[in-house]
Amino acid sequence: MSERIVAVSGVGSGFGRAIAAAFISDGARVFGCDVDHAGLAAAQACGVEVASVDLSDRQGARGWIANIVANTGRLDVLVNNAGGVLGQAHRPFPEVEDADWDAIFAVNVHAAAALSQAAVARMALAGGGAIVNIASGASLKASLTGVQAYCAAKHAMLGLTRQLAQEFGTAGIRVNAVAPGFVITNEATQAQWHSYGEAGQAALIGRTALRRLGKPEDIAQAVLFLSSKNANFITGQILSVDGGQ
Ligand SMILES: NC(=O)c1ccc[n+]([C@@H]2O[C@H](COP(=O)([O-])OP(=O)(O)OC[C@H]3O[C@@H](n4cnc5c(N)ncnc54)[C@H](O)[C@@H]3O)[C@@H](O)[C@H]2O)c1
Repeated sequence: MSERIVAVSGVGSGFGRAIAAAFISDGARVFGCDVDHAGLAAAQACGVEVASVDLSDRQGARGWIANIVANTGRLDVLVNNAGGVLGQAHRPFPEVEDADWDAIFAVNVHAAAALSQAAVARMALAGGGAIVNIASGASLKASLTGVQAYCAAKHAMLGLTRQLAQEFGTAGIRVNAVAPGFVITNEATQAQWHSYGEAGQAALIGRTALRRLGKPEDIAQAVLFLSSKNANFITGQILSVDGGQ
């Protein structure tokens, strides 16, 4: 990744931070955005060039990519990582409010689409690039979280991955997705893990072939691979990184 220009959304925490660190240790110049200022400061301390951007504003999302390109003249890799359940938990479906549904789609899907729109224009001019979307096991089956909008949004992200891979293959832009299994990354996922109780935790580990939970670094290495020349003939794919579930 030496001298590559990489943009990672949601670098303030969890996977985003680990992905940024993996690219930096491989020689890339990494730009990251988030809304969490403490998280941004921690990412900056790791060498990420940070910006405070609320990705639920599409124009702000596109503007962040435009600034990176104005600053460097290039963009080689985009990682659409920001997202998640945004603090929401399962509620019976009839009780889910529109605003909560929309908030999850805004960050997980609409922001990824807006960032990708801004990125492909520049990548196509340069003759290629790579986009990696952080999808989820919930892109392929029902979500452990029980949050309906999250599962629907992560399925949508898989559709975006496949469609953009078809559209931009001739421009040399590869578009893939990584589908992490459950990983403890923050207080919310810590609470989710506790909520399973001992029996639920043992059951989750028991149906994982490698018999452990994943770590953010496991996800980061898969993203690095899909962004690299080693994955030159791979596009439109979703790679499960879940220990074999
Ligand atoms: N942790 C897991 O078990 C797991 C499993 C599968 C998929 N994922 C996916 O991986 C990605 C990262 O998850 P994580 O566990 O590291 O979560 P996280 O909450 O630790 O990190 C997500 C980051 O995105 C940022 N973000 C949220 N809304 C934003 C907005 N409007 N504008 C800018 N930044 C915003 C948050 O501030 C946070 O720093 C998400 O897309 C999530 O859906 C996580």
